[in-house]
Amino acid sequence: MDKIIVAIDGPAGTGKSTTAKILAKKLNVMYIDSGAMYRCITYLVLKNKIEVNDTKRIINLTENAKIEFKDESVFLNDEDVTNEIRTIEVTNKVSTVSKIKEVRKILVDKQREYAKENSVIMDGRDIGTVVFPDADFKFFLLCDLKTRAIRRQQDFNDLGQKISLDKIIMEIKKRDDIDTKRAESPLRKAKDAIEVDTTNMIIEEQVDFLFKKITNTEV
Ligand code: DC
Repeated sequence: MDKIIVAIDGPAGTGKSTTAKILAKKLNVMYIDSGAMYRCITYLVLKNKIEVNDTKRIINLTENAKIEFKDESVFLNDEDVTNEIRTIEVTNKVSTVSKIKEVRKILVDKQREYAKENSVIMDGRDIGTVVFPDADFKFFLLCDLKTRAIRRQQDFNDLGQKISLDKIIMEIKKRDDIDTKRAESPLRKAKDAIEVDTTNMIIEEQVDFLFKKITNTEV
């Protein structure tokens, strides 16, 4: 297979990461979770007790952050932060940190770097619109709010954080709102992206749908 770039965008909880991860294995290409990169910076901001409006320090942290993806784990400055970046505390702040223009620029450069010599599947909010406008395949995943919240609740459960559905619905709404309305690279479907409503799909169906589009094996 020639080098390919697959962009998967959409709001939180639509199953982007799970789908992308399995798809990458099936296609034997690298998977990059761009949301994890914004989460890493947010984790550092919280860990160092930096105010979210202290952009100078946040930019400095971002410039010096070494983010690596190894197997299923995320390493930040050589520390395994796979679980730490998924907590409700990081989740609640990540959209605010992601609004910072300079942070986005630094992380987008890193994202493009990963794809320089490798085929990649990358998921996020602006992959098909900004990071890789010429991606070979672009998908935009959608799903109804309640289903997304139930999925997120399960993710938090897996981390040992018990959070009510109402609280998660509020968190998702707030995050979608910030991600969609921000000035810099807002969450938007690329004109040429294929829309996939995952509300009534199980993961295998989502993966299968994307796999067939990419490998052109649709019947
Ligand atoms: O996919 P996720 O829920 O892990 O993403 C966390 C946050 O990171 C999301 O609310 C907005 C931000 N993000 C972004 O601004 N651009 C991306 N390409 C990916 C994520």
